[in-house]
Amino acid sequence: MELREVIGRRRSIRFLRPYMPVEPEKIQMMFEAARIATHWGNVQSLRAVAIHRHTAPQEVLDALKAVVVGWQLRIAPVVIVWYCDPEQVEEQGNRLRQLMDVGALGFGPEDVKRSTLEEKFIPAFKEIKDFLKAPGLNEIDCGQGMAQATLMAYELGLGSCFLGTPDGDAILKVLGVPSHCRLLLMQCVGYPMEHWEAGGQRPRQPFESLFWMNTYGNPYPRSQAVVDELTRDKMFTRPAPLPERAAELEYLERALKLKAPGLF
Ligand SMILES: Cc1cc2nc3c(=O)[nH]c(=O)nc-3n(C[C@H](O)[C@H](O)[C@H](O)COP(=O)(O)O)c2cc1C
Repeated sequence: MELREVIGRRRSIRFLRPYMPVEPEKIQMMFEAARIATHWGNVQSLRAVAIHRHTAPQEVLDALKAVVVGWQLRIAPVVIVWYCDPEQVEEQGNRLRQLMDVGALGFGPEDVKRSTLEEKFIPAFKEIKDFLKAPGLNEIDCGQGMAQATLMAYELGLGSCFLGTPDGDAILKVLGVPSHCRLLLMQCVGYPMEHWEAGGQRPRQPFESLFWMNTYGNPYPRSQAVVDELTRDKMFTRPAPLPERAAELEYLERALKLKAPGLF
């Protein structure tokens, strides 16, 4: 399947087959995709614990809590707890040296360039270390890794849905993750029970209200030919709500005995 179609089919899938474990190799593939994602200065602060419902200790399963639509955590065969380790910023100097050695900074490690790196770049980064460890840049790059993992999951026939939580510290504590780390998101992963369309392409803000050319307020031109091409390539799919969605939801809720799934 072409990348455009995968992007178009990636959708939050809340209804997963609770009885069907996910092969560790597939979660590994998600992690492999996350590991090679881009990260500022190659710091790589993204970390994760994959919790397999069928083998994890009950105490760990009980610790997983979300504020909104949290019932997904009780049926998902795997919950990936993605977190950020901001202390990786301490390794920034070494990561930059590595990048220079392999020519990824746009220049090689000749003497003069090496001393510029050692005397200018690395000290400059050290000076703003606290800013770099604060929530911000690292989280953005962690998100890029998680996005790649999500596309990989789709490609492997898996469904997934991210869940936020205000109980991040407590969850990481039960998992034994060092206390300086920050929980980013939980991601339920499993084989989908719902159709891949999951009710259709979810509504999005108009293109014209999001992107600008040259200056703010000057809408980025949206060519209809491009829209048509992406529609042909299946990146754009039927918009929600699909006529069969209400019946699908009713069926899924009955199958999973979600008496009152509501928001919790
Ligand atoms: C950062 C992030 C946090 C999210 N948190 C939750 C959550 O706590 N509970 C939930 O049910 N869905 C959560 N979602 C899923 C979104 O609600 C979902 O992306 C949205 O409904 C649009 O659907 P789509 O992803 O299929 O386009 C989250 C998604 C993201 C990206």
